[in-house]
Order: sequence, then structure tokens, then C-alpha cells
Amino acid sequence: MIALGSDHAGDELKQHIKKHFDELGIEYIDLGFYELKRDDDYPVIAKEVAKYVQSGKAEKGMLFCGTGIGMSMCANKFSGIRAVVASDMFSVRHSRLHNNANILCMGARVMARGLAIDLVDLFLNTEFEGGRHAARIAMFEEK
Ligand code: RB5
Repeated sequence: MIALGSDHAGDELKQHIKKHFDELGIEYIDLGFYELKRDDDYPVIAKEVAKYVQSGKAEKGMLFCGTGIGMSMCANKFSGIRAVVASDMFSVRHSRLHNNANILCMGARVMARGLAIDLVDLFLNTEFEGGRHAARIAMFEEK
């Protein structure tokens, strides 16, 4: 299960990714926003998706806003959440291999739709390497 969320700026990209998931039969839940305003508050949805992933109800999440930046900053406030904002293949791949990222944040105003699809697929299909990287991730939770 993948949890999705967006503000007004990210909605069109989110719909594009949902269509892709429908075609592939990938299970997702859209946590909003559902009725777009001109200026949605992205932290509301970042928190919804972060809590959903944190609870284990979704294995991963994806957040879409204008840049992906605000969503990632907010989601990373939650323990156990490792949100990455990225718009290139190398960063997305390594966010999974080395950082076990569990939320991908994307900027609808930043990237082409075809690239977004490739990045989403890469994020979902790249396994964490574990080992020394797991020990480092465990340090995130230490005060
Ligand atoms: C909304 O204009 C924009 O600030 C928001 O979508 C996002 O890019 C924030 O990080």
C-alpha cells in the first residue's frame, strides 16, 4: 500500500501517478486534498501521509507539492519517517539503497511527467542495502 498526498500545486502530478498505478495495479490510498483550493496548506497533508506511513498502514508514501521541499521538511519531523525530495535517478536510487527512504516528495513545478513516472517506479523497485547503512539509519532516532 502506498499513501499519496498533495496540495493544490501537486494535485495534477498526483493524478498522473495515480493513473500510472491504476494501469500497473499498484494499491494506493489518496489522503487528500480532495477539493482543491487556490492555496492549500501542504503541512496538513504531509502530516497525514507521514502518520499513515509511521503507523505501518502504508509501506511507503509519496507527497506532491510545487517543489517537494515543504512536504519533505514537514514529513521528516516524524520519527521513523525518511522523506527524500529528489528529481534525478541517482538521488532517488540512493535514497532507497543507502537511506531506506520511505516517502518520496516531488515538485510538480520542477519535473517533467515522464521523468516523474520513472522516479516513482525506481523508488518502489529499489531495495534497501541494509548492513552498515541500517546502523546509520538507526542513529537517526538517537537523541
Ligand atoms: C505552494 O505555492 C507551494 O509553496 C507549495 O506547493 C510547496 O512548493 C512548498 O514547499
